[in-house]
Amino acid sequence: MREYSSDRIDFRSDTVTQPTAAMREAMHRASVGDDVLGDDPTVIELQDRVAAMFGKEAGLFVASGTMSNAIALRTHTVPGDEIVCDKTAHIYRYEGGGYAALCGASIALVDSESGLMTPAQVRSAVRKAEGSGSHYPNGSLVCVENTSNLGGGSCYEQETFDEIAKVAKSLGCATHIDGARIFNAAIATGVDVSRMCEHYDSVSICFSKGLGAPVGSVLVGSSAFIARAHRWRKMFGGGWRQAGLLAAACLHALDNHVERLIDDHHRAQRIAKMLNDLPMFTVDLSTVQTNMIYAETNGPASEVVEKYARHGVDMFDLSANRIRVVVHLHITDEDVDRFEAISHELFG
Ligand SMILES: Cc1ncc(COP(=O)(O)O)c(C=O)c1O
Repeated sequence: MREYSSDRIDFRSDTVTQPTAAMREAMHRASVGDDVLGDDPTVIELQDRVAAMFGKEAGLFVASGTMSNAIALRTHTVPGDEIVCDKTAHIYRYEGGGYAALCGASIALVDSESGLMTPAQVRSAVRKAEGSGSHYPNGSLVCVENTSNLGGGSCYEQETFDEIAKVAKSLGCATHIDGARIFNAAIATGVDVSRMCEHYDSVSICFSKGLGAPVGSVLVGSSAFIARAHRWRKMFGGGWRQAGLLAAACLHALDNHVERLIDDHHRAQRIAKMLNDLPMFTVDLSTVQTNMIYAETNGPASEVVEKYARHGVDMFDLSANRIRVVVHLHITDEDVDRFEAISHELFG
């Protein structure tokens, strides 16, 4: 069923989802307390449940993926440190330079394929202050993104993922996963999230993307890490009160919106093949692993986006010749049928 307050087909992002009637009902029923005082039962339930799911000791509920990553980066580093990540990583591209402003850290960028670093690339990107005659910053954190957003929703193979963590550890670096869409990766690869994240120190998990909650991310890690993260959340102004209303939406998403991600992935496959069959688009089908489709356009992408918009379909152009289509909770088979008909009419 389509539970979206507009009849437009909105492919801009999976962040556009709105709480379903059942999710709103769960929020309505939520028991709440004062989370700054540590007694909101629904927040506690969410934090404990997510930590257990990911095989970590503790969790911290925060307002956004950006806040979760910022707190993690700040907790793992001290000013003068360096963070290793892929050149397309969200923490580098789209989080306002928080790594520099909030952490005083620099970034060592890795130039990888589809946003997925290799262990060898990570090894050669880590620079240590020690032994450099004080020339280098101190490479102290490796951050991976799974799925990789700008990589096209691509997923790490588990062996590579494990090996990156081992390389990082061997070089004395902490490890953080930006898992904004980690459940998409788990559904696509069939690897359970606790196994996937086994060798990593912290994970940021978003509920306001494919899982369809209005707000919220949970940062998980060891109890000692989360205790320090709790203080940074406070200093960043992220302590909140009756947050159980929002945690209830996230709990509802865990119960109802994880397994269904496979439907989004199937619809993404269908859309990718359909676009690739049209002369206007080229899609590397091997990169369509989860809920995103990046298509090269045979003409200005901005004009493609405008034409679709005039026909009630929204998406982003990410460069002069590239569009992105993101499938989510509110995209139905009927929407895909309609999109196919419009695409044939415009570009067939
Ligand atoms: C990979 C990734 N990490 C982090 C974020 C940040 O999430 P938020 O928008 O909740 O701050 C996003 C947002 O789309 C994302 O795609």
